[in-house]
Amino acid sequence: MTPRILVIGSAGQLGTAFRRLGSPAITCVGRPEVDVLRADTIIAAVAGAAPDVVINASAFTAVDAAEADEAGALDVNSRGAAVLAAAAREVGAPIIHVSTDYVFDGNKGSPYFEDDATGPLTAYGRSKLAGEATVALANPHHVIVRTSWLFGTSDRTFVAAVLRLARERERIEMVADQLGSPTFAGDLAAALVAMAADVAGRDDYDWGIRHVAGAHASRFEFAEAVLTAAATHGIRRPELVPTSLAAYRAAAPRPLDTRLDSRFPGTRTRSFRDAVPALVAELLSR
Ligand SMILES: NC(=O)c1ccc[n+]([C@@H]2O[C@H](COP(=O)([O-])OP(=O)(O)OC[C@H]3O[C@@H](n4cnc5c(N)ncnc54)[C@H](OP(=O)(O)O)[C@@H]3O)[C@@H](O)[C@H]2O)c1
Repeated sequence: MTPRILVIGSAGQLGTAFRRLGSPAITCVGRPEVDVLRADTIIAAVAGAAPDVVINASAFTAVDAAEADEAGALDVNSRGAAVLAAAAREVGAPIIHVSTDYVFDGNKGSPYFEDDATGPLTAYGRSKLAGEATVALANPHHVIVRTSWLFGTSDRTFVAAVLRLARERERIEMVADQLGSPTFAGDLAAALVAMAADVAGRDDYDWGIRHVAGAHASRFEFAEAVLTAAATHGIRRPELVPTSLAAYRAAAPRPLDTRLDSRFPGTRTRSFRDAVPALVAELLSR
């Protein structure tokens, strides 16, 4: 049986994926009504939904903007997340809190496991790492789910951006030496619902950190899969030119290699190669 699940962050990429599951057992709420910076709205939402499990899909995710507003990122990703975790504890619900591969520095040279040393390079990564600790302190019944390179149905994400570039340009440069684990938001949402069913009502669960992510890839390979899928819909294939992360200028440095592996079974979501074709078909049909 699906437990009653309350998801915070309904308008985001992951929040949208939860809404698209269309389950009556899942209540999705978000700003402006429910804001993790306003404890009263959180307490009211948790009391109203009386959930078996709370999932935090909300976050300050603007990696570059966080460099100039680390306090703002910390407010949402650490302080607000802890308020939510504590509100869940008050009603006896575990919290599933989503975190990121950016808690790592990317210099390990092989995929990261849950117990590897963290070392964020960015304000965003530091705020998310702080959130892992504050959530764990606020609610002993917690699962911190780190994921990587989330992609979904929004027009603002990597897959949509590559499709746009394919229509506009003859030649696209794509970083070939940055590695991660592209994770389809719909698959992550489904995996978290399954996890919620596992943890609901349990005291004896192995609480802690889980890496839940898809197959490993470079940005270049990820883009190639998008272009291959687009070509089956008649989109002309531009020349894809490899470039290096060092050539990519942004306010926040990006970690080079944050591929995620897990010490736990059943935490790998579908490969981007399997998830991209249907997503490309959907995005092109809009
Ligand atoms: N995107 C990635 O590549 C990636 C990779 C690894 C991990 N993650 C993690 O995955 C999770 C989901 O990310 P996402 O891509 O779905 O992010 P997203 O699309 O940026 O959505 C974040 C959501 O959080 C909401 N939010 C921000 N501040 C809030 C507040 N004070 N109170 C309530 N809601 C607030 C936003 O609300 P508004 O709509 O009102 O702005 C937005 O709906 C995050 O924990 C993120 O750190 C993401």
